[in-house]
Amino acid sequence: MAERLLIVDDEQTLRESLQRVFSREGYDADAVNSAESALELLASNVYHVVITDIILPGIDGIELLKRIKEKLPEQLVIIITAYASIDTAIRAIRLGAYDYIVKPIVHEEIKQTVKNAVKQRALQSENILLKKQIEKEYAFTSIISASTLMNGVIDHLKKVADTKSNALILGETGTGKELIARAMHFNSTRADKPFVPINCSAIPENLLESELFGYVKGAFTGAFNSRHGLLAQADKGTVFLDEIGDLGIGLQSKLLRVIEDREIRPVGSTQSIKIDVRFLFATNRDIEKMVAAGTFRPDLYYRMNVITIKLPPLRQRREDIEPLVNYFVLNYAKELGKPVHGIEKNAMDSLKAYHWYGNVRELQNVIERAILITEDGSIKPEHLPDNIRIGGSSADSALADKLSIEDYTKAFIAEYQDSCNETQLAGMLGITRKALWEKRKRWGLQR
Ligand SMILES: Nc1ncnc2c1ncn2[C@@H]1O[C@H](COP(=O)(O)OP(=O)(O)OP(=O)(O)O)[C@@H](O)[C@H]1O
Ligand SMILES: [Mg+2]
Repeated sequence: MAERLLIVDDEQTLRESLQRVFSREGYDADAVNSAESALELLASNVYHVVITDIILPGIDGIELLKRIKEKLPEQLVIIITAYASIDTAIRAIRLGAYDYIVKPIVHEEIKQTVKNAVKQRALQSENILLKKQIEKEYAFTSIISASTLMNGVIDHLKKVADTKSNALILGETGTGKELIARAMHFNSTRADKPFVPINCSAIPENLLESELFGYVKGAFTGAFNSRHGLLAQADKGTVFLDEIGDLGIGLQSKLLRVIEDREIRPVGSTQSIKIDVRFLFATNRDIEKMVAAGTFRPDLYYRMNVITIKLPPLRQRREDIEPLVNYFVLNYAKELGKPVHGIEKNAMDSLKAYHWYGNVRELQNVIERAILITEDGSIKPEHLPDNIRIGGSSADSALADKLSIEDYTKAFIAEYQDSCNETQLAGMLGITRKALWEKRKRWGLQR
């Protein structure tokens, strides 16, 4: 569809030459000789761009601009002005005009201005669309929950999402900590500002400081230019510090200072920068235990923990399993383009009975796989992994056989190492990644 222009000018030659120039460029251009006629057309037509002269008989260009902006605040308007009234042009910009063109009109210039305006409009609507999509994705309604436990968590969330207070989100791996953090951000007044997730365990300790705080030129070998850190990038928005339990003790004190003083000092700089960010933290480790053991600073812990959100493991809220399964079936069927309409009752029963140590993420993976392999429009027990289908897992049977903790751990690692990453696996076992690595090495359980 051609872009539509409306040209408003009382000078016939100018009006007609502009209409010709833009029609030749492929625009669908209407032209009128007064603001009154323009308003009439705008009442029932959509134009991508309006180009108007300032001096017109009757209502002038500035008044026209004002009236347009009252009704259509997003409408792009370009003003044409004589050199003498450049002050008026600047006033027009303040009133919301996109740009102004000074007479005598150079065709190349006005063509370029209109082109830029149209491009900006496309970007604007793209941004609005994208934002709407993100908002929808992280609305509280997109957090599936049927259990009283989880409904309670969501009620609490609604009350605290739009506050300034820092919050600590606790829960086993895969319980939805990041999902909750995003929902809190997108349901706060910071929603249109950045949400910056930072995984403390994914960035090596020696790089984390400069990543977080930024650095100035020459701060260390290789720092050829200054760089903003992630915290500065999140200004006015939300920072999500994931796996905070893995933060080294040295950085803990630096982070504490940032939270207390609301300012950061880039590596190598003597000056601090004020920042306005809200902090959300998450961990699957027992952070209170770490405080007691002296590996986590208590003062930082209290600062993080103004609001606590505890996500219960899925096996403690089994009523959520069925709605989650239905939700994932729908999503993956659509995403993978497979006409899967449902799941057989005995398959659902197995899913409801399983222990789900990997929580919602594990469930999500199981459903995705089932949708991939099913060929008859519904999920049947044979589309589920053996340990779920026949009830319990090798880890469960290990327990039933009263194996030693060591054998149990071995069976557990062997079972989960393909579907979980290291941090998740360590989290599920309640051990550090280093300990996990040592066990794997000892037992030859390398991937
Ligand atoms: N209640 C829920 N409704 C819908 N989707 C959910 C829900 N809980 C979790 N999920 C989905 O499960 C997956 C895992 O969630 P998320 O990444 O937030 O978990 P996590 O607690 O951060 O895990 P980890 O500790 O391993 O990082 C995501 O794809 C998330 O969208
Ligand atoms: Mg996470």
